[in-house]
Amino acid sequence: MSISTTGISPAERLRGIVPDAEIAALSPLMEEIEELKKQRNAVVLAHNYMTPDIFHGVSDLKGDSLALARMAADTEADVIVMAGVHFMAETAKIVNERKTVLIPDLGAGCSLADAITGADVRLLRERYPGVPVVTYVNTSADVKAESDICCTSGNAVQVVESLGVDRVIFLPDQYLGRWVATQTDVEIILWEGSCIVHERFTGEELRGYRALNPAIQIIAHPECPPDVLAEADFVGSTARMIDWVRHEQPRQVVMVTECSMSDNVAAESPNTEFIRPCNMCPYMKKITMEGIRDSLRDMRHEVVVEPEIAARARVAVERMLAVRV
Ligand code: 13P
Ligand code: SF4
Repeated sequence: MSISTTGISPAERLRGIVPDAEIAALSPLMEEIEELKKQRNAVVLAHNYMTPDIFHGVSDLKGDSLALARMAADTEADVIVMAGVHFMAETAKIVNERKTVLIPDLGAGCSLADAITGADVRLLRERYPGVPVVTYVNTSADVKAESDICCTSGNAVQVVESLGVDRVIFLPDQYLGRWVATQTDVEIILWEGSCIVHERFTGEELRGYRALNPAIQIIAHPECPPDVLAEADFVGSTARMIDWVRHEQPRQVVMVTECSMSDNVAAESPNTEFIRPCNMCPYMKKITMEGIRDSLRDMRHEVVVEPEIAARARVAVERMLAVRV
């Protein structure tokens, strides 16, 4: 039995989180992944939306987009496997150019990243000369390269305020942009992008939960529409939502975000009952245990960013990483 980088075997890491029969079925595959990680000097970085088997079983480092970018910049490993979506893998490559970055499935995209191109940003700059461009990391390297600074949902307000201006262009998530506008005096010029997962939640469904239990706690990701955020007791990035549950230990909580988050947090929060309105991200779910194994075994799919684009995108990402949160 192989021992992972945490000193605990993958099977032990899953004990109590997934049924024993599933652990037994998954064990050979997880052992293979651990062995390949050693051979390749690789780490698996997992976003909070990965399924519990991947998140708890085979990932070495996990977190929200901001934490994954920081971990990718700091890792000593030669190979980074991104158990997340393509923009996260690209960000890892941008901040750590000499590493080999792999994404197990090239279909792991993002509706926000698809909502804007570098050419769109150039047109916006012509329309609003001199107004800085703040770009959510859920974008392609091309778009980052045209931006002044990046942000994530974990630092968007601080990034906007770090610029010391009274107006910014905020791309591409209209809902995150609208939420930031409620938290700052800086004027926010929006783009019309949205997340296909978070835009499906409604304030009405949340009021329904509250009608059943007025003490219920509702926590939401800022990619949700304003009527949803208006019902929330707390709004934050995926990592902030997890920290909030750890700290507050609510009796009953609705996590208004992608399905797997509740499954991952529930595993470590026995005193909390999770209500799980389940909107699944079809892109995140392209990443499977088999895909991670194949990725490490065959060194595929390598994420490549053209050096000139990577250099310009790096400025925007590193400027973000320097902002204190
Ligand atoms: P976080 O940075 O909050 O993890 O969000 C990433 C994402 O894609 C949310 O849909
Ligand atoms: Fe993109 Fe939304 Fe999926 Fe996050 S949940 S990766 S923002 S489509």
